[in-house]
Amino acid sequence: MFTRAIVRKPAHTYANGITTSNLGKPDFELVKKQHQAYCEALINCGLELTVLDPDPNFPDSCFVEDTAVVTKDFGIITRPGDPRRLGEEIEIRKVLEPILKLHYIEEPGTLDGGDIMQADKKFYVGLSNRTNLSGSKQLKEILASYNYDVYSIPVCNILHFKTGVNYLGENNLILHHEFCSKDDFKIYNQIIVDTNEEYAANSLRVNDFVLVPKGFPKIKSKIQELGYKIIELEMSEFQKMDGGLSCLSLRF
Ligand code: GLY
Repeated sequence: MFTRAIVRKPAHTYANGITTSNLGKPDFELVKKQHQAYCEALINCGLELTVLDPDPNFPDSCFVEDTAVVTKDFGIITRPGDPRRLGEEIEIRKVLEPILKLHYIEEPGTLDGGDIMQADKKFYVGLSNRTNLSGSKQLKEILASYNYDVYSIPVCNILHFKTGVNYLGENNLILHHEFCSKDDFKIYNQIIVDTNEEYAANSLRVNDFVLVPKGFPKIKSKIQELGYKIIELEMSEFQKMDGGLSCLSLRF
């Protein structure tokens, strides 16, 4: 069970962030509204939120997940892999320092939290354009010291590992239909995300609920059929900036 989450409000510079989506410029009023709805959903899932002020120096900084990997016992402060995001982790470190025992990814390592997925006592580390071998090796050493099994997985054609794969719990794994390393996940009950619903591969289990982006009926039904309660959230303005449901919070 998660009890806490950290989120950061989007800054007025949000539209200047990094994107490959070609979905147009985000509407900032809608961004704030969708972020507020996301925060309310986390509260409805039973989480106590720490809401950080916007940081206009970092347009992507509402995507806090990339700055740390957290569990209830410890945190790992990352080194974001795109130079434009390097430095976002400094504020998150200040917030987590009084709460958790912290470890740090050091240069030349780079690592984005969006590339790290926990599935019970296993962690998967996606090797992407953001997370390099050094970052992955450092993370593995830290996680191994806490007795987690850690697996590296190549990521192709998507931004982050969790853009394409997310663990729901109970051995259920959501998987993008074209995910390049499908064979690495044979042990799981795979819920395949169909063509035209790829964005919803980043659905997010939070306690008794699964948060699903609005507008993806096929994956919503598949998740519901497994017995999960769903909260649907409008995510259009985050999708425009390559952000998903998991990116918007650190949960622990
Ligand atoms: N816009 C989110 C990212 O590229 O990291």
